[in-house]
Amino acid sequence: MKAVFILLVAGTFTLNAQNKIPVYMDETKPVNERVEDALLRMTTEEKAAMLHAQSKFSSAGVARLGIPENWMTDGPHGIRPEVLWDEWEQAGWTNDSCIAFPALTCLSSTWNKEMSLLYGRSIGAEARYRNKNVLLGPGVNIYRTPLNGRNFEYMGEDPYLAGRMVVPYIKGVQENGVAACVKHYALNNQETNRHTVNVIVDDRALYEIYLPAFKAAVQEGGAWAIMGSYNLYKGQQCCHNRYLLNDILRGEWGFEGVVISDWGGVNDTREAIFHGLDMEFGSWTDGLTDGVSNAYDHYYLALPYLKMIRSGEVGTKELDEKVRRILRLSFLTTMNSKRPYGSFGTEEHALAGRRIAQEGIVLLKNENNILPIDLNVTKRILAVGENAIKMMTVGGGSSSLKAIYEVSPLDGLKQRAGLHAEVLYARGYAGDASRSYNGVKTGQNLSDSRSERELLDEAVSMAKDADIVIFFGGLNKSDFQDSEGTDRKGLELPYNQDKVITELAKANNKLVVVNISGNAVAMPWVNQVPAIVQGWYLGTEAGHALASVLTGDVNPSGKLPFSFPVKLTDNGAHAMGEFPGTKEEVKYNEGIWVGYRRHDAKKIKPLFSFGHGLSYTTFEYGKVSADRKEMTANDKITFTVNVKNTGNREGAEIVQLYIRDLKSSLPRPVKELKGFDKIRLNAGEEKAVTFTIDKEALSYFDADKHEWIAEPGDFEAIIGASSTDIKSKIGFKLK
Ligand code: GLC
Repeated sequence: MKAVFILLVAGTFTLNAQNKIPVYMDETKPVNERVEDALLRMTTEEKAAMLHAQSKFSSAGVARLGIPENWMTDGPHGIRPEVLWDEWEQAGWTNDSCIAFPALTCLSSTWNKEMSLLYGRSIGAEARYRNKNVLLGPGVNIYRTPLNGRNFEYMGEDPYLAGRMVVPYIKGVQENGVAACVKHYALNNQETNRHTVNVIVDDRALYEIYLPAFKAAVQEGGAWAIMGSYNLYKGQQCCHNRYLLNDILRGEWGFEGVVISDWGGVNDTREAIFHGLDMEFGSWTDGLTDGVSNAYDHYYLALPYLKMIRSGEVGTKELDEKVRRILRLSFLTTMNSKRPYGSFGTEEHALAGRRIAQEGIVLLKNENNILPIDLNVTKRILAVGENAIKMMTVGGGSSSLKAIYEVSPLDGLKQRAGLHAEVLYARGYAGDASRSYNGVKTGQNLSDSRSERELLDEAVSMAKDADIVIFFGGLNKSDFQDSEGTDRKGLELPYNQDKVITELAKANNKLVVVNISGNAVAMPWVNQVPAIVQGWYLGTEAGHALASVLTGDVNPSGKLPFSFPVKLTDNGAHAMGEFPGTKEEVKYNEGIWVGYRRHDAKKIKPLFSFGHGLSYTTFEYGKVSADRKEMTANDKITFTVNVKNTGNREGAEIVQLYIRDLKSSLPRPVKELKGFDKIRLNAGEEKAVTFTIDKEALSYFDADKHEWIAEPGDFEAIIGASSTDIKSKIGFKLK
């Protein structure tokens, strides 16, 4: 017996010729050799165990071979606190309070790829330090409707902007030896019926609107993981969808990473085996109904799969393919001895978050230069609104965090005003007093028994005596607001805010409204309010970032990543499509007419347009020129436009390039974003901005031919400070 045991042990650790470490551990060996070596050593049971969760956020490695477990963590805005083994509830650790970064809508509204790289590097370092090797983010689902509860986690309505902005984030995360897991692939554009709804969308809209950001994430970002979404497409769960995973993701895009299910997104073993899923998480098997203690053995890719293999019903080809991809993930992360060690909860990350927030805040309106607040002459500031004090890093679903700290807008303003000005506060309205999420407590008690009338009267009477009034309102992370699992019920602000704002405007004409949200909202008072700021969910440094912009320390430079429609039916999904559809189905009848694409086509003036954002300085654009009048499909063409800072302070401007196809055999949007550049200019400084494009920027997707087509003919390059603030155009020909 002893001899056998010795043989077995020796067999397990057969050393290769030079008596070095086993090939699969040898980082000098080609990855494929290491993968095959590990595969040879693994039993079928060990292989199957890698395909599914062993706990809420982890999956098995191979302890016998020293291949580590895989540990996933939410979320896109910061590292979720440790949870109990098999629960969503936090585990109550005391070493896992993180830096909360701004929501990804804010990152997107910076239109600054450097901010995206900074973001990825920072959040990746936090994940690395917490020993997580897969970050469940970023999310790049397109903003189809302003009612989608999770839009705050995503990057807006335009596929080109989302694609450009997601790539550096992924690279930054993965520099830490942590996989970015881009989600939710695909067509997860609403929360209502998200587990059951089959999305009906034409191929052209799929390829031109809903896939490009994922394609960029894979082909340019080099994402090591992708998360399948809950919904269905063509009648198959996206987590095991032949079309999206086998045909497009792997077949057309050449993705070699792992496909991870959303939590509970798997419901069929055979489909999971053959339609490209690699790792199954969160399945709803309580195990107990089958009389066994470990529910994880009942995952679709656990015992049911093993049974099919043992009975000969299926082979092990797909099993090995899946394990190969998971082993490669291990070699890139947990078994990569060269990866950095990360860092966590640092001032550096907090300041990174502040910078991103400062660059993402959008100045929507600023009549008579009410902003910035001049603290040399302003003596009494009144802050009004629940969002001046409410914690926003707790709640909203899986992106909820346990942050080390969160500076509220009121505290940020008070700290910044210091002795210059008195900052008073009135609640104005009472909205959501929830105090915890998944066991993370806000530590706030926002309950307020006063009536709407009393709250309003207090705010209005205090407003009369203030030099300036700042109303902090908008949405929050509670259900039916900006939150996972539910969608909003309408475009309007909740909690009687419109009334409060309207009354404040009558009481004091120096009123600033700061809308803190991840979605567009209706603003019936827009003409009564001289200054409006889009504040986003800004994370740990929220109050400091907002105060620095409101008082002019920072010149705002963000621009909207989505349109603000005046009313819902200005939006394609609500005018032409279905939303939210039924439990079974939702039809994207609007096709490609999403966001500004529809506003342009129907000449509908938005409340605030895609790409809009003001500055405390002014910019002047010269006339755009091109380096050629015509181009062939093999050429590139370069456009140049001079931009000058004609104001009296430094500022950054986001110059946008849109392309228009003057004549096409298929209906095309009036214009589509195909380039942008954010330039920083001192007062009086002028710079030339150039954009070089090729035929890809001229193409549309022809669903019948299933290919991208650039049709010869006349085109226009359109330079804009936003999608409606057009500065100049120039025609050119594609031969
Ligand atoms: C959630 C979300 C997904 C998250 C996962 C784990 O339901 O859809 O974004 O990463 O499950 O929490």
